[in-house]
Amino acid sequence: MNISTDIVIIGGGIAALEAARNLSRRFHVHIITKSDLTVSSSYKAQGGIAAVISADDDTALHIQDTLKAGEYHHHEGNVKALIENGASVVKELLQEGFQADHNEDGEISLGLEGAHSKHRIVHAGGDATGKNLVDYIAGELPPNVYIHTYEFAYELLLNSAHECCGVRVKTNSGEKSYFASYVILATGGAGALYECTSNCETSYGDGIALAYLAGASVTDMEFVQFHPSLLYVNGARGLVSEAVRGAGGKFVDVNGKPIMDGKHPLGDLAPRHITAYEMYKMRENGQEVFIDISRIKSFEQKFPTIHNLCSQNGVDLSNGRIPIAPGSHFLMGGVITDLYGQTSIPRLFAVGEVACTGVHGANRLASNSLLEGITFGTMMATYLLENGDNQHNFILRSDIDSPISESLLPKVLLQKAMLSNAGIVRSKEGLQKLIVQLPGITSKTGNLRGYSKERIELYFMNITASLIAHAAQERTESRGAHIRNDYPMKANHWQKRWIVFEQGKMNVRNDLYECNQTKSYVN
Ligand code: SIN
Repeated sequence: MNISTDIVIIGGGIAALEAARNLSRRFHVHIITKSDLTVSSSYKAQGGIAAVISADDDTALHIQDTLKAGEYHHHEGNVKALIENGASVVKELLQEGFQADHNEDGEISLGLEGAHSKHRIVHAGGDATGKNLVDYIAGELPPNVYIHTYEFAYELLLNSAHECCGVRVKTNSGEKSYFASYVILATGGAGALYECTSNCETSYGDGIALAYLAGASVTDMEFVQFHPSLLYVNGARGLVSEAVRGAGGKFVDVNGKPIMDGKHPLGDLAPRHITAYEMYKMRENGQEVFIDISRIKSFEQKFPTIHNLCSQNGVDLSNGRIPIAPGSHFLMGGVITDLYGQTSIPRLFAVGEVACTGVHGANRLASNSLLEGITFGTMMATYLLENGDNQHNFILRSDIDSPISESLLPKVLLQKAMLSNAGIVRSKEGLQKLIVQLPGITSKTGNLRGYSKERIELYFMNITASLIAHAAQERTESRGAHIRNDYPMKANHWQKRWIVFEQGKMNVRNDLYECNQTKSYVN
């Protein structure tokens, strides 16, 4: 079955939905997701949306916090655009009717999270911001936005001019092709490449593999953020938001002794790469770690999602502490795009966690990701509303005949190997051990039609894991979330250097947009 339309969006998180509702003013939009709209990092997001909406705050401070947390490995023009446009987008969202939580004085209640110098986290339903936001925007979608659930995108269609002109998917009942003027990747991150993760179990980095195999440029894959506090009961059971520490929670050891005191000026609210590393070291030494919540009044009202998660997993909160462990949470890298989502392949766009615009640097600032999704989703849509035209060339380039031939690392072994060798702390030996088990970065796409969804998904997992491992091996320094025990310091010669994968090659560049067809934001 074939569908011809204006725009196809792959993915169902906040960037996809916000783009779709804006694009629907001019275009027919088809959203395809491999699961449903309740399965995404956006939907699970607890903390909220970081935005400068208080008179007591300033965009310059939010920009500074973002740069500091990400250790200055950013595209600064894009950071400025995110924070400044983001403040307006969030204000509009609130004005049009999105119900955020209010305090007793009737003002919007602003939370505090790690590495923020101000209370600026807009939240909803306590710790259910992502769910509330997804439900709200999905509820606003008009009838010319069509949602197709349980469809797995496995091949981007390129025409004879090497432009993207559609996508092939596998459905529960067979195959389908979409032909479109524009294809937008909004597939989210890759946290589920790791054994211990806050992400949905479907977050394998499919979109990155899809784009890379089609020839798009990908960067910053070594920067995988680990969140310091996942509920840990015989394995990771979900997130315990940083907002809990913003409300007074503290990392403690089994004896109740504070862990972060004296370790960093911001203590329990230090940037995530610092807190995750401390939790990792404790656990590696055989010590259990907890968040002490005894000083938080009305915990159940403030954090209903986390309260339920704890109850479901048999954690008795009456003793005032939650067992935790660090786990993979967010990928700072991805498909290189400009501020409007354009990738290096004409008519292929990317937005949200799958994209890399350099706004998160080496370690994303808490709650800047929902902000990114709605802000860049809106900006991309505005760009296409103003500049979009029709694709006329649907003559497909001939398939490269190189189907999956490599032996692939099975899912569970891959997730374990990623955690051990490309996790919070990396080394040359560990990365090399991992790399030899994964496909090379020269992998090219081929005709994948004959393979099952499961086989292709495993192939995509292996490809994305390989990009992470190669980039982590190449960057011989520690910066932000990329920590090497054999290169424990930042190195000047790695400052503002981007490891870029393109057409089967890995290059180190001095500019995110060097030799790239995307445009750099000029303020
Ligand atoms: C959290 O609630 O701790 C996560 C928020 C985020 O990752 O931005």
